[in-house]
Amino acid sequence: MASLSFFKLALLTPLLLLLLASSTSSVAQLVRLQPERGCQSQCGDVKVDYPFGIGKGCGRSEHFRLLCKRNDRGRFKPFIRGNKLYDLELSSISVPEGLARIKNPVSWLCYNRTDWYVSVDYAGADLTQTPFWVSNTQNMFIVIGSNVFAYISLNGTKSGYTAGCVAQKLSKESMVKSSCSGIGCCEVTIPIRSKTYFMSIDESFSNFSSSNSICGYAVLTEVDRFRFSTSYLTTPGSFEKDIVNLSVVLDWTIGNEKCELAQRNITSYGCVSSHSTCVDYYGLGYRCSCLHGYGGNPYIHRGCQRIKDIQRSVPVPFN
Ligand SMILES: *[C@@H]1O[C@H](CO)[C@@H](O)[C@H](O)[C@H]1NC(C)=O
Ligand SMILES: *[C@@H]1O[C@H](CO)[C@@H](O)[C@H](O)[C@H]1NC(C)=O
Ligand SMILES: *[C@@H]1O[C@H](CO)[C@@H](O)[C@H](O)[C@H]1NC(C)=O
Ligand SMILES: *[C@@H]1O[C@H](CO)[C@@H](O)[C@H](O)[C@H]1NC(C)=O
Ligand SMILES: *[C@@H]1O[C@H](CO)[C@@H](O)[C@H](O)[C@H]1NC(C)=O
Repeated sequence: MASLSFFKLALLTPLLLLLLASSTSSVAQLVRLQPERGCQSQCGDVKVDYPFGIGKGCGRSEHFRLLCKRNDRGRFKPFIRGNKLYDLELSSISVPEGLARIKNPVSWLCYNRTDWYVSVDYAGADLTQTPFWVSNTQNMFIVIGSNVFAYISLNGTKSGYTAGCVAQKLSKESMVKSSCSGIGCCEVTIPIRSKTYFMSIDESFSNFSSSNSICGYAVLTEVDRFRFSTSYLTTPGSFEKDIVNLSVVLDWTIGNEKCELAQRNITSYGCVSSHSTCVDYYGLGYRCSCLHGYGGNPYIHRGCQRIKDIQRSVPVPFN
C-alpha cells in the first residue's frame, strides 16, 4: 500500500502547488463599459453576451474573455481559461441570471484486480482569474463507489474548508435503492462559495478489496439534475456516460467590490443600463439586474427593456 500512496501523492502534488501558487493577484484591469463592434456573439450553440467576450478586445476585461474551441467531441464550445489548470468547458451562460454551467470535472480511482495497479485522476477547478464563483446552494459534492471515502477542498488547500463522505458498500439487499443515501453513493453540501475546488479520493481508507466495484468517483454537480443509479457500480462506464450531460453551476459577479463602493467609480461601474440596479453578492462582489417589469442585459446601454416590449418584439403564438 505504501507504493500506492506514493503514486497518488506524486500525481497530486503538482496540481496542489499550482492551486496554491495561483493566489489572487489582482492586476489592474482595463475595463470596457460597452461591447466592441465585430465581436463574436456565439460559440457553437452557446450565446456569449457582453460582459463576456471571445477574442482580444472583446468583453468587459481580460477576466471576461472566453476561448472558443473544439471540445473532446469535436464541437465548438466556449471555455473558461484554466489559469494553469485545464480549461473548463461552458455549456451555458446566463447574463440576466448571473449564472453559468461548466462540464463536470470528475475525480476517479480505479484498480485492476489482477495486478493491483491503481490509476487515478484528481480534478477540480481554478476560477481565481475569472468573475465566476462555485455556487454552494445549487451544487452538491457526490461520491460514488463501494467503500469509498472522498473529499473536496475549497478555497485553496490552506484555508481548511473541506467536506467529504463515505459511499458504503452496496449489498444485495440494498440493490433496489436508487437514491443517493449513503449506500453506493453519498452526497454533502459544500460549506462556502469558493473560486477553487479540488476533489480527492482517499484510497488508504477506501476498501475496494471487499467489493465488486473497482472504481470510485467524486464529482461536484448540480443537485437538481443528479439521479443515482445502481448501474454506476455494476456496469463499467455507465457513470461516465451519464455525467456528460450534468454540469456544475457557477455564479458570476461583474466586480468584486460592494455596490456602495462600485457606484462611486463611474469609469468602471457595471450597471450602465437605465432601469437597472446593483445587487450585492454575499459581500464578495456585485452584480446588476433590471428593475421589476424590465428584462434583458443590465450591463449595456438601453439593455433593460420593458418586458411588454420584449414580448411584443418576439411574437409568441397564442392558442
Ligand atoms: C489488469 O492487469 C492485467 C495484468 O497486467 C492486464 O492483463 C489487464 O488487461 C488489466 N485490466 C484492465 C482492465 O486494465
Ligand atoms: C478564501 O481565501 C481568501 C484568500 O486566501 C480569503 O481572503 C477568504 O477569506 C477565504 N474565504 C473564506 C470563506 O474563508
Ligand atoms: C477490507 O475488507 C475486507 C473484506 O471485507 C476485510 O477483511 C479487511 O479487513 C478490510 N480492510 C480494511 C482496511 O478495512
Ligand atoms: C445527453 O444529451 C444528449 C443531447 O441532449 C442526448 O442525446 C443523450 O441521450 C444524453 N445522454 C444521457 C446519458 O442522458
Ligand atoms: C476606477 O476604475 C478604473 C478602472 O478599473 C481604475 O483604473 C481607477 O483607478 C478607478 N478609480 C478609482 C478612484 O478607484
